[in-house]
Amino acid sequence: MSPDGRAFVELNRNELSFPPPEHVVEAARKGLERLNRYATANEVDELKKALAAYCGAAESSLLVTSGVEILLGQLIQFFARRGQIAIIDPTFFIITRVAESLRTRLTKLRLTRPSLELPMEPLMDIAKDAALVVIDNPNNPTGKLLLDRKATAKLCERSGGAVLVDESYYEFAGSSVIDMVKDHDNLIVARTMSKAFALAGLKVGYMVAGDDVLKGLSSLEVALRPTTPSACAALAALSDTGYVKKNVSKVSQERERVAKKASEMGVEVFPSSTNFLLMRTNQLNAAIKLRERGVLVFDPSRQFSSRYIRVSIGTREENDAFLSALKELLAME
Ligand SMILES: Cc1ncc(COP(=O)(O)O)c(C=O)c1O
Repeated sequence: MSPDGRAFVELNRNELSFPPPEHVVEAARKGLERLNRYATANEVDELKKALAAYCGAAESSLLVTSGVEILLGQLIQFFARRGQIAIIDPTFFIITRVAESLRTRLTKLRLTRPSLELPMEPLMDIAKDAALVVIDNPNNPTGKLLLDRKATAKLCERSGGAVLVDESYYEFAGSSVIDMVKDHDNLIVARTMSKAFALAGLKVGYMVAGDDVLKGLSSLEVALRPTTPSACAALAALSDTGYVKKNVSKVSQERERVAKKASEMGVEVFPSSTNFLLMRTNQLNAAIKLRERGVLVFDPSRQFSSRYIRVSIGTREENDAFLSALKELLAME
């Protein structure tokens, strides 16, 4: 509950504010009727087939998982046994947390100011000696696309190890390197259904990779599988992806509206290819002060300073609530 007793406006976890369509909810309900059962191999295979068709990859190169977070953890642990891990800074906090928790050499490559770019030559140098380079593209928390196809190809060629590209916001960004896995056996691409597909509560992720990585994770294939309701709902969601396109278009329109209004208030707003915006306000402890006004945003003060916030794009009403809380915040002494 927020300080005035109302529910918080939750714009802190980059979820989608719109629920999935009824046929997807219905499929999850059907899955719930078999709660005592694990998802069958057949259900997981069907889902794999549908995901392979959706992303244009070979079924044999795809692994379905219970979300991307768990997959990132497993991949980083797997490659940490081989050598050094390289991540960018800032990046999705789970990547940082897992990489820092391991007793392995960790290199962090800071995005460069003013526009928070990935410094290409230092990246290529670091990649030569790394067992794994991890890049979320677009990046969380900046929302920026960091790598294009040419840079990805060069990175894969220069890398001594593997390159993991986390494309969790792919549908919003509209560009992908997933088709490049077939030509670069050290490229791994991970994606989630938690964002544009509006299935965060079910946690379904997938990875497309070469044989070396698939073999390395094969003993975990069963353990990583999604649950029965998740597999059923994900399959239903992939049967008609029209709603995903609508979600992306609604979110993109709202994102531009919020960005414009916030800029007009004097806030620095970073361009985004995702369903969230990074902003720099004039206030210290900005996220805490917005919380006091009933709006939850992500607090990236460990990555930047406490003047920064990362706000997810919600419904028009939620975004308006955020904008009015932001206005109050900016007016503070
Ligand atoms: C870059 C990135 N990867 C992965 C995830 C989480 O994915 P999942 O819900 O599939 O675990 C997020 C969620 O915020 C994210 O920002």
